[in-house]
Amino acid sequence: MQKLIIEGGYPLTGTIRISGAKNAVLKLMAAALLGKGKFVIRDVPAIKDVYTMIGVLTALGVKAELTDSVLTLEVDQITGEAPTDLVQEMRASIQVMGPLLARLGWVKIAKPGGCAIGDRPIDLHLRNLERLGAVIEEEHGFITARCSRLIGQEISLDFPSVGATENLMMAATLAKGKTVIYNAAREPEIVDIQNFLNQMGAKIYGAGTSVIVIEGIDEKHLGGAEYTVIPDRIEAGTYLLAAAITRGNITLENVNPQHIQVLLSKLTETNSRLSIGLNKITLESGRIIQPANIITLPYPGFATDLQPQFMSLVTLANGSSVIKETVYSRRFGHVEELRRMGADIQLDTNSAIVRGVKQLSGAAVRAMDLRAGAALVIAGLAAHGTTEITGVEHIMRGYERLVEKLQGVGAKINLVSEEGN
Ligand code: EPZ
Repeated sequence: MQKLIIEGGYPLTGTIRISGAKNAVLKLMAAALLGKGKFVIRDVPAIKDVYTMIGVLTALGVKAELTDSVLTLEVDQITGEAPTDLVQEMRASIQVMGPLLARLGWVKIAKPGGCAIGDRPIDLHLRNLERLGAVIEEEHGFITARCSRLIGQEISLDFPSVGATENLMMAATLAKGKTVIYNAAREPEIVDIQNFLNQMGAKIYGAGTSVIVIEGIDEKHLGGAEYTVIPDRIEAGTYLLAAAITRGNITLENVNPQHIQVLLSKLTETNSRLSIGLNKITLESGRIIQPANIITLPYPGFATDLQPQFMSLVTLANGSSVIKETVYSRRFGHVEELRRMGADIQLDTNSAIVRGVKQLSGAAVRAMDLRAGAALVIAGLAAHGTTEITGVEHIMRGYERLVEKLQGVGAKINLVSEEGN
């Protein structure tokens, strides 16, 4: 079993380079299934989720290699049957459904289960693939979808789901005619997928707004692409919050400040000073952390993927903060663990009232999911004494070289392996 051991109380100082965005690259990899050819994707983080997606693509017939942040994919003949074990390991695997269906006319994939942060159904994916002409059956835990050629349609999403928007964009790329997605998700990762697909030869515009238009094209017009993935805005936010809670001063490089505007304004509210460059952010912490309220919303609102980490920061604020989670039904798994470290948090359905305390104290805690784990790391960096975090595998799914990056800015953090526990 692996554990992260953190000796708290050291201000973070120095520079961190942000890696490519996990939640973009996984979808670019799925999108590559739409066209035959060679793909070179740069700035790909060497994290567990990327390796899982490499496994999925390999099982589908793709040749994949990741070396020094450059991912090369060679896509030719592929199958539509996704590997069940890997799909069950990572929900994002469901994003291969749209491309496989559009390219092969069939796909068979295991139904994703619930997860630690909420039920996470995929009804919006399925219902709207049906609108494009897919015939979908759900039996024995599998989804099978078939179509001759998908037909472009006007689609209105009940909720701007990131995954549904992406699956539909990819499927509609090879549909006959035009598809318009209303109430589409507006996340920067959606823009990245549009740009990648367009480099492959697709005709998509509007990503980044709530109306996305996909002019369907013939398969023969799609080919390989060379592409650099956008920086990971959640990784960037995590390190800014880590610096703020330790009263440190750090500079992030390879970051797009526009992608985390709400977080930056909340950091200012909590008393950090920021200087913003084109792809650089420097944070200087104030001595006192001021309280601040947040409500998580689809982009450009406050990202749910930064809610747990922000909660850690305000556990040490000079007053009370209210944190409201509206995207997921159960994203408060970190609360009990933060309480173990001395935080004063009261939960009320989808809101948390966090009363700032003078000090957190190191404790043995467990990461329930990726971002809850990041929140515990942040809390541990500021806590008095030693924090031991188990459930490290969740954290390693999404943060490239977390330990090395934090050590590089002065954190006392180590990953240790223990036999037989
Ligand atoms: C993506 O998940 C991200 N994952 C998540 O990041 C992120 O939290 C989320 O978007 C929101 O920003 C990846 O990109 C791999 P959604 P996704 O569809 O696409 C409900 C992380 O920590 N919903 O926008 O699954 C759903 O249950 C992860 O990196 C339906 O009801 O997000 C959820 O409550 C975790 N029916 C909400 O919408 C559907 O058909 C948001 O889901 C689809 C979604």
